Amino acid sequence: MKIKFFRSKKYFSFLGRLPKKGDLDVYSTMVKELRNVDKIIEKYNNYNNDKSALIQIFLDIQVRNHWLAKPILMWISKRLKIPIILINHIVTFCKAFSTVPRGCHLVQVCTGTACHVRGTSQLLERVTEIIKLKPGETDENLRFTLTTVNCLGCCALGPVMTVDGVYHSNPSRKKIKELVNKLKEKEREEELWRI
Ligand code: FES
Repeated sequence: MKIKFFRSKKYFSFLGRLPKKGDLDVYSTMVKELRNVDKIIEKYNNYNNDKSALIQIFLDIQVRNHWLAKPILMWISKRLKIPIILINHIVTFCKAFSTVPRGCHLVQVCTGTACHVRGTSQLLERVTEIIKLKPGETDENLRFTLTTVNCLGCCALGPVMTVDGVYHSNPSRKKIKELVNKLKEKEREEELWRI
């Protein structure tokens, strides 16, 4: 149990995620991760030191890992010969990027005006009660991150929430529970959290 705990802690501090099935030790996994970053850089940049591809590179990594870990940003800085200070500036400026670990599943509740008048507070209450997180929080197993946003672009359906990008119009408590259980079940099948 203790070994499991330390292994997870190490993975978390280097990669911002828990070990997955098939991972070797944390350092080999880190090398593997950096190779994947190289593939993404090659796809957009071909090592021509082209800064314009940076955003796309960050987006791809964010989709893959759910956030941008510091070692990965430092690697990109080295590979593309772009000062880390500039890279940090871009990722902290742009809201699409997260520099703190995020869960595998992103739950977003709209708190914009149209949704607010249609009952966002009650929806947010239901969501926080079921996933046991407050807005801005990620659970310790890195399963879920809950955030609020100002508008999801479909005000007529409000109050609205998204789970991994899928829209749900004013879901009931039962529906939210079903969604959460479905995701947990999927993870169990993938044995992601069993290591
Ligand atoms: S205000 Fe909620 S979708 Fe626009």
